[in-house]
Amino acid sequence: MWPPLRAVCQRVCRRSVAAVLSKCFRHRDANVSHFSHSAGRSAQACKALMYRNHGDPSRVVQLEDVGLPPLGAKDILVKMLAAPINPSDINMIQGTYAVVPDLPAVGGNEGVAQVVEVGSQVKSLKAGDWVIPKDAGLGTWRTGAVLPEDDLISVPNDIPLLSAATLGVNPCTAFRMLSDFEDLKPGDSVIQNAANSGVGQAVIQIAAARGINTINVIRDRPEFTQLSYRLKAIGASHVIKEEALRKPEIKELFKTCPKPKLALNGVGGKSATELLRHLQVGGSMVTYGGMSKQPVTVPVSALIFKDVKVRGFWVTQWKRDHSQGELASMLDELCSLIKQGILTAPACTEVGLQEYRAALDTAMQPFTSNKQVLVM
Ligand SMILES: NC(=O)c1ccc[n+]([C@@H]2O[C@H](COP(=O)([O-])OP(=O)(O)OC[C@H]3O[C@@H](n4cnc5c(N)ncnc54)[C@H](OP(=O)(O)O)[C@@H]3O)[C@@H](O)[C@H]2O)c1
Repeated sequence: MWPPLRAVCQRVCRRSVAAVLSKCFRHRDANVSHFSHSAGRSAQACKALMYRNHGDPSRVVQLEDVGLPPLGAKDILVKMLAAPINPSDINMIQGTYAVVPDLPAVGGNEGVAQVVEVGSQVKSLKAGDWVIPKDAGLGTWRTGAVLPEDDLISVPNDIPLLSAATLGVNPCTAFRMLSDFEDLKPGDSVIQNAANSGVGQAVIQIAAARGINTINVIRDRPEFTQLSYRLKAIGASHVIKEEALRKPEIKELFKTCPKPKLALNGVGGKSATELLRHLQVGGSMVTYGGMSKQPVTVPVSALIFKDVKVRGFWVTQWKRDHSQGELASMLDELCSLIKQGILTAPACTEVGLQEYRAALDTAMQPFTSNKQVLVM
């Protein structure tokens, strides 16, 4: 999960999140009937997983009825279809993430929704379109919402539901990290830890599509062999246990595979240090997550003798710093890979909104190789 970054951008993020939430919940009770009328019977039960305090997600999150505001001229009425439970969602509820919404807040940052009705001045979307959030903090764990057109971006509605629901964060992160830090050519190598995570699986698939080798590090577990087969089936070149990084046998691997130009670190601690040791001279290590909650230690020798670059990446910041056109073009490329069957959603367990407590508990367990996805 993420180290606490709260101080860094709390103030900036609070404003945008608060604006969205206050808009969504203004005139709460008066608007349930408006939503029911507009969206038809299926949307009548407008429910949301809300939290009023930060803390343990399975304790502070409650399933509540929420009303919706009237549809403004530039608003979109959506029916949420599916939304994953990501580590950042958990951290946000715990109050330790870089984006901390004003409370009460609706959980969830990612997901796919179907447009039900559009305001009179909306030009870019129509009923039936599928949309995903452009930014973090939207509160996707709910059955319906009225949102500003500018907060949403369309995705094709003929891709698998789970791919659409998990498209906006992890595949975008993988895509950017493979594109923006090193000039990777076919035949080059990338090493990554947390290789079975949502990000890790997207890295494997996008890299394989570009002819890039991946060395994938996962924690040991009883079903290591099965997981290794599964990752190889989606394009992993090598799958190794964390312990193997420290053993001399790793030298064998580099007899047939070039030393990596890029290391992707979603774990931190010793695991990150080991990735650094295997980088090419002048290579980059990009940290995007800190699941072990341990700091990254950079050996002096890696800096002096290998001049490695130690970088970081946050997809939320990338989206804020880049135009809608750049985001749309990346999503087009990713959706094209999805349609060709090259990029698939990570292994997911679909759960109903009512089963949220068990799903939140499961999402916090180690060695859960299935992502929990709320299907509304
Ligand atoms: N910077 C960004 O823009 C960005 C974007 C997306 C995600 N992230 C971050 O990336 C990380 C992964 O997210 P995700 O949605 O891909 O995760 P996910 O699919 O839920 O998977 C979690 C991964 O973390 C691993 N893990 C958990 N605790 C660990 C530990 N103590 N040591 C080593 N590995 C551990 C798990 O391995 P096991 O299977 O062995 O338990 C699993 O591979 C999170 O920290 C998330 O916040 C960052």
